[in-house]
Amino acid sequence: MIVIEKETAADAAAIDSLLDIGFGPGRTGKTVYQLRQGPSLPELSLVARTGFEARVGASIRYWPIDVKDGGTTLPALVLGPLVVDPELQGKGLGRTLVARALEEADQDGWNLCLVVGEPSYYAPYGFVPAEPFGFELPGPVDQRRFQVRGAPELLETLLATPRTRPVRPWSGRASGVENIGGSIHAA
Ligand SMILES: CC(C)(COP(=O)(O)OP(=O)(O)OC[C@H]1O[C@@H](n2cnc3c(N)ncnc32)[C@H](O)[C@@H]1OP(=O)(O)O)[C@@H](O)C(=O)NCCC(=O)NCCS
Repeated sequence: MIVIEKETAADAAAIDSLLDIGFGPGRTGKTVYQLRQGPSLPELSLVARTGFEARVGASIRYWPIDVKDGGTTLPALVLGPLVVDPELQGKGLGRTLVARALEEADQDGWNLCLVVGEPSYYAPYGFVPAEPFGFELPGPVDQRRFQVRGAPELLETLLATPRTRPVRPWSGRASGVENIGGSIHAA
């Protein structure tokens, strides 16, 4: 049996092992990791547990980020990492985690989400190429894999006002606010 639940502090080591297998130990050197500072958002960090021991077989995490848009800052999410134990791959677990967490993100009021991943995997959830919107990560990225999902009216507005939009770690962390939800962050 597979159960999807919120990640707990006790899952950290098991998730790290899965990430080492899925992405390799050098994964934290990737540009997208610069956006993942401090803890991930607890309400959007899910695990899939399997078997009687409820072993962690898959994980998805999200971090809050800032998108600088001229003089203002847009609250946004960065999706991932997403990882599934090789023994459990191909059974729909990855897609279930993505869909479940995005549904929660929508309910929490997040209207902008970035990901660096395979376009064919994320397109079914409404992700489109990020490059036309001017988003600029704090380092090199394969533009083919850099995608965004957002509220249609927001994406239309961004497209209508072309400019470079630097993406940075969430600045609220530095001000000491630790645990946020989308609605609070967006306020
Ligand atoms: C990518 C990953 C999360 C998919 O998890 P999963 O549970 O096997 O995926 P699902 O069973 O939900 O979906 C399977 C579908 O995804 C596709 N898929 C799997 N890995 C893929 C990849 N790297 N790129 C594109 N498509 C992929 C399969 O071809 C399959 O397609 P189909 O539904 O048309 O047959 C898993 O393979 C993994 O952990 N890989 C290592 C880490 C990684 O690459 N993470 C994702 C970063 S974008």
